[in-house]
Amino acid sequence: MPAPSFAQRIILWQRRHGRHHLPWQNTRDPYRIWLSEIMLQQTQVETVKSYYLRFLSVFPNVFALARAPVTQVLELWSGLGYYRRAHFLHHTARRIVDDYHGTFPETEQELTELPGIGRSTAAAIAVFAFHRHAAILDGNVKRILARHHGIEGDPTQSSVEKHMWAVAETLLPKNNLPAYTQGLMDLGAQICTRTCPDCPHCPLRQDCFAHAAQQTALLPSPRQRQTIPEIPFQLLVIRHQDRILLEERRTQKIWSGLWSFPECAMGEDATQIVKQRFGLKACDHVVHTPVRHRLTHRLLIMTPVELHVAHERLRQTNHCRFYRHKEALSCAMPTPIRRILAKI
Ligand code: ADE
Repeated sequence: MPAPSFAQRIILWQRRHGRHHLPWQNTRDPYRIWLSEIMLQQTQVETVKSYYLRFLSVFPNVFALARAPVTQVLELWSGLGYYRRAHFLHHTARRIVDDYHGTFPETEQELTELPGIGRSTAAAIAVFAFHRHAAILDGNVKRILARHHGIEGDPTQSSVEKHMWAVAETLLPKNNLPAYTQGLMDLGAQICTRTCPDCPHCPLRQDCFAHAAQQTALLPSPRQRQTIPEIPFQLLVIRHQDRILLEERRTQKIWSGLWSFPECAMGEDATQIVKQRFGLKACDHVVHTPVRHRLTHRLLIMTPVELHVAHERLRQTNHCRFYRHKEALSCAMPTPIRRILAKI
């Protein structure tokens, strides 16, 4: 008998040791599968679970999501981070309803044409919902392939990634695509982890390059460090008694549609800005320690400046409002801003 293939070992391992009761499993509903894959793109399984169930209880199908205002979608996303995903989710729901009469397309090609769905996410949806023959290649799968096949080089680099896609395609089994795909995800999460992989329990250890060469700590090759721009600015925490002024971000590229503190540039006089922009007179101000928050392509360095004002009569009330502290915490708000608000 020939030795079981890479895929056969993954499938058998998945059946015995993989995950079978995640909230997005045991369904072929493409809406539920799509939603889970988008949430799981940058967020851990344990965190996603409660958000996923809450989201589905409010938007049980693509029609409900498509007709909702984006603010409601953002509220349910609040805390998950990477808010572009929520905007894309909403766009895609509208596209599915308007262009596809509410029925998801089944091919990877059509799926990748929808906002927020890259090649790997399209493949996962196509496999789980439509049992199509397609390869996934997310961060976990890249790690497994780099180690098992001894592929060197930064996997986020396009030449390395291209090679990995080719390898991922050649490894696909003829049948059992859902078990194989889930198996890769489960192996990456449970066995072939970034630090301290559990090689003794791995179904791929017999012919794993990194295991034999004792190179699991060296593969995948570390990401080439890129320097990202630092963006320093002030956050104006304007308070009157137990109430705080929040502004809805409308036109900014990041955190659009979320509530935050008004901002101004580093050198600007916060007291003056509060007077000019809102018609509020600050009695005193306290400068807090800067908070650093890394986004994908930049590092925000936010200095909260707390100002106490004598009244709440705003010069303009477009998209800004005083909220009680507790009320403010329930707004759709970026996580670092929520943390600052909770501390102040
Ligand atoms: N990560 C990405 N997709 C996943 C899924 N369907 N199950 C578990 N983890 C995942």
